[in-house]
Amino acid sequence: MGMVDWIRKKRDGQELTTAEIEQLVAGYTEGRIPDYQVSAWAMAVYFQGMSARETADLTMAIVKSGAQVDLSAIHGKKVDKHSTGGVGDTTTLVLGPLVAACGVPVSKLSGRGLGHTGGTIDKLEAIPGFSTEMGNADFSKRVNEISIALAGQSKDLTPADKQLYALRDVTATVDSIPLIASSIMSKKIASGADSIVLDVKYGQGAFMKNEEDAVQLAQAMVAIGDQVGRETVALISNMNQPLGQAIGNALEVQEAIDTLRGRGPQDLTELCLALGAHMVSLAKDIPATEARQQLQAKLTDGTALEKFRQFVVSQGGDAAVIDDATVLPQAPYRIPVIAEQAGYISSLQAEEVGLCAMQLGAGRETKESVIDLSVGVLLHKKVGDAVEMGEEVATLYANEQSKAEQVRARLLQAISISSEMVEPPALIHSVITKDGIQYLA
Ligand code: URA
Ligand code: CA
Repeated sequence: MGMVDWIRKKRDGQELTTAEIEQLVAGYTEGRIPDYQVSAWAMAVYFQGMSARETADLTMAIVKSGAQVDLSAIHGKKVDKHSTGGVGDTTTLVLGPLVAACGVPVSKLSGRGLGHTGGTIDKLEAIPGFSTEMGNADFSKRVNEISIALAGQSKDLTPADKQLYALRDVTATVDSIPLIASSIMSKKIASGADSIVLDVKYGQGAFMKNEEDAVQLAQAMVAIGDQVGRETVALISNMNQPLGQAIGNALEVQEAIDTLRGRGPQDLTELCLALGAHMVSLAKDIPATEARQQLQAKLTDGTALEKFRQFVVSQGGDAAVIDDATVLPQAPYRIPVIAEQAGYISSLQAEEVGLCAMQLGAGRETKESVIDLSVGVLLHKKVGDAVEMGEEVATLYANEQSKAEQVRARLLQAISISSEMVEPPALIHSVITKDGIQYLA
C-alpha cells in the first residue's frame, strides 16, 4: 500500500494504521511524498476526522520527525503550559516564577513569533540585560538550582509540523481539530514535557471562536496526552476581551510584576492561580485545591516575587526593574482614550485591541517586523465596569503622536458602552481532564 491507498482509506472514512501514519509523515518530511498528495489526505482528514488513536499516532510521528529536548538532567516532574493564544496574555511571565516558588521545576522553552505583542522572550527582553541564550547543560543546571530557566526554542524540533502547517495554511485545512491538536501537542512533547496544562481560549480574540470548538480541541489534546503517557489537563477560558490590563511588551512585564506582588488585575491573577494549581497538582501529585492554596500563599508572602528576582538575576537581567518600572523602555507619548458617554463597558473587542497594540508597534506582522518594546495599550476598565463620561478608559503608549491619534479612534470603536448594567463575563468555562469535563461557568 502507498500514499494513494492511504488517501483513499481516509476519504472513505477508514482509519490508517500506526505504521501507515508513520510512513506518511516520514515520507513527507523526507521529500518522497509530494505536497499534492498530502494536501488531498489533509482535506480527507478535514472531512472525515481521525480517531483518538490515529491522532496520537500522528502526534508522535511529528515528534519523531526532528530533535527532542532531553530534560532528564532536571530533577522532578516537568510540567509545561501552553496557551492557544490570545490578546495581552501575560500568564507565562507570572506562572513561571509562581510555580517555581512552589519548588516545581519550570523548564520553559518559549518563542518570539508573530502577533499583537511579542512572544514571552521579546517581553522578557524589555528587562535590560535579560538573555535567553544558554546551552542545554546550563539550562538544566539553572532549573536544578533555582527551579526556573527560560530559553529560546530550538529550531530543529518538529520539522514535520512546520511543513504540514504551511501546507494546511494554503489548502484550507488549518481548521481541523485532530490536525490542530496533534500540531500543538507534538511541539510540547518534543520540548520534553512530562505533563501538560493547556489554556484553550475561545472568543473574539482567540483561534477558536466559540466554547464548543474550544472544548472539542481540548478534549482531543487531553486524549492525545492520555494515549502517549503525558498527563494533560485543559482549562477553557474566555478571550472576548483582553486578559489583564496591559497589551504590550514592557507594559506586560510591569503587569506581571504587579501580579507577582499580589496586586495584579483580577482576571490575570485568577487565570494564573487556576493554571498554576493544575501544574503544581500534576507535578506534586496533590489535589488542585491544595496546590492552589500553596500558590496563593507564595503570592501573599512575597516568595513568588522573590523567585522572579532570582530568575531575572540568573538570566543576566537588571533586578532593579522589580521596584522601579522606569528601568523598562519608556514610550515618549502617553495618550489618554476618553469615554464619550457614561455607562457600563459592555464589550472590549479583544482582536481589535490587539491590533491597536500592533499598530502602535508592539507586535510583528511579518518575521522581519521590528518590535518597539515600550509601546502598547493599558486598559483602565474591563467589561462590566462603570464609566463616567470624560473618564480615561485606556492609555496608549506610543512612539509617534500621529500614529497614536489613528489608534485612538480605532480603540474607541472597539469599546462599547451600555447604559444598562453589564455582568462581568465568567473567565473560566470548564476544566477538562482524562476523566471528563467539569463546568465552572
Ligand atoms: N496552532 C498550532 O500550533 N497548530 C495549529 O495547527 C493551529 C494552531
Ligand atoms: Ca495582559
